[in-house]
Amino acid sequence: MFVDQLPHLPKILGFHVVSGIPKSKSLEIGMFKKKWKFHRNLPPTPVYAYGVSKNTATVPGPTIEALHGIATYVTWQNHLPTKHMLPWDTTINTAVPANGKGIPTVVHLHGGIDEPESDGNFNSWFTAGFKEKGPTWTNETYHYHNQQQPGNLWYHDHAMGLTRINILAGLVGTYIIRHPKLEAPLGLPSGDEFDRFLIVFDRSFRTDGSIYMNSTGDNPSIHPHWRPEYFGDAIIVNGKAWPRLTVRRRKYRFRILNASNARFFRFFFMNGLGFTHVGSDSAYLNQPVVTNEILLGPSEIADVVIDFSNSKTNIAILANDAPYPYPGGSPVNEGNSKVMKFIILNRPEVDTWKIPKKLMHYPGPDHVSGASHTRYIAMYEYTSAADQPTHLYLNGKSLEEPVTETPKVGTTEVWYVINLTQDNHPLHIHLGLFVAMGQTELVNLGEFTNCMMRMKDAIKCQISKHARGKMIEVPAYEKGWKNVFKMRPGFVTKILVRFSYIHSNASYPFDATAEPGYVYHCHILDHEDNEMMRPLKLVN
Ligand code: C2O
Ligand code: CU
Repeated sequence: MFVDQLPHLPKILGFHVVSGIPKSKSLEIGMFKKKWKFHRNLPPTPVYAYGVSKNTATVPGPTIEALHGIATYVTWQNHLPTKHMLPWDTTINTAVPANGKGIPTVVHLHGGIDEPESDGNFNSWFTAGFKEKGPTWTNETYHYHNQQQPGNLWYHDHAMGLTRINILAGLVGTYIIRHPKLEAPLGLPSGDEFDRFLIVFDRSFRTDGSIYMNSTGDNPSIHPHWRPEYFGDAIIVNGKAWPRLTVRRRKYRFRILNASNARFFRFFFMNGLGFTHVGSDSAYLNQPVVTNEILLGPSEIADVVIDFSNSKTNIAILANDAPYPYPGGSPVNEGNSKVMKFIILNRPEVDTWKIPKKLMHYPGPDHVSGASHTRYIAMYEYTSAADQPTHLYLNGKSLEEPVTETPKVGTTEVWYVINLTQDNHPLHIHLGLFVAMGQTELVNLGEFTNCMMRMKDAIKCQISKHARGKMIEVPAYEKGWKNVFKMRPGFVTKILVRFSYIHSNASYPFDATAEPGYVYHCHILDHEDNEMMRPLKLVN
């Protein structure tokens, strides 16, 4: 552990400046099979990596830096071979190229507020050279408007039934929308040295360096390869296992992304150093929040300032103590309980960075008037006779069943998310931003679950009679606008979802009602692939 330096990932600007004026830019980013060194002592690992060229492709991919108000166009190019290097289970609903050759891929910009044709629908996949295409494929070039609030996004693969193995192979990268006029006055740490992404995921390897994924399903007669959760032994940050970073005694900003398939992280510093949260997922908080730990489900982002001048020691180990699966699974072990090591220089420093008292002023849920619609979204897990999970559904429906969630553009809705499973599921909604309002325990859960399994109707099963147990408040650092939130098992979580911008009253500069629509899903990739995902169709 702690022998490799934390890598600086390449940066690509999503705009260019012509005589002082920023202009939109078109990028071409490929997906390449190549080898990647995850650790000094591990042979190079075959990976799928995003990059401008094979030589410069990295795991994670380059960070795209966009400017608020200036569009970025990206042509995502698949240069992958004909055969997947990880176990592809064709007994689950998956993309299938017509001639059986090629690796379907499609890129979703997670947190992006963009038209459906550029959202990376699971059925808009394509293989190398756009040879084979999915049924909803429309265009080679994606248009990212960047009209939304400044914040942290990430791009990743989203091909039907393949997301978990395409991401496991390395297809992830980050994307920032900057708004210098609003952000510079905040005085937060900035520049490549003091403002960095930490992209954290878990992986297991064979001794030859290749990625190890247990390829025998829990229920091999039903799904020969699919397993309900992938967990790896090593913790990887920015493409290195347990890296180290030497820092000065001053403030740094880290945008921490959990890019794992299924692992939750509860990060903390072994020497007690704290975090000041300034943003979560793709939006700033209204004011900073100080904590000693950060619980991040898959695909959640914590945007924090760490002030190393507060460290009593010269070494600060970032650690993790979240059981896996979360919350009822195995306790962490030596390998997955350590994340990275910060070595803090002794010399005192003059620190010019600030943490302002106020960050942004987005409307709070109490100012978002008149929710237009209330929905109940229930999470189900189905098991075999031997009590092994076979698939997961939202509202008891497969992905193919006709759309049932059709919010109106520009409105706000209340969703009650009812988790009838044993695990916590990070729910992600495309396009919309939401505020988590609180979680209420379901009483007589067995009886309620039985009814829901039969009727699939929260009202008929008297949700109001069951949502009466203990109430849990949303932690202050998660009270802002988010695009993923952790749905506690045996609880109903109330969220307020907004299908419009949070920073202005402007309407979307695109047709959000277009085909192929959006989706919402659990962001445990192994669940999303086996069908904890449903269509979301905006209407006027
Ligand atoms: Cu991060 Cu639908 O995905
Ligand atoms: Cu899930």
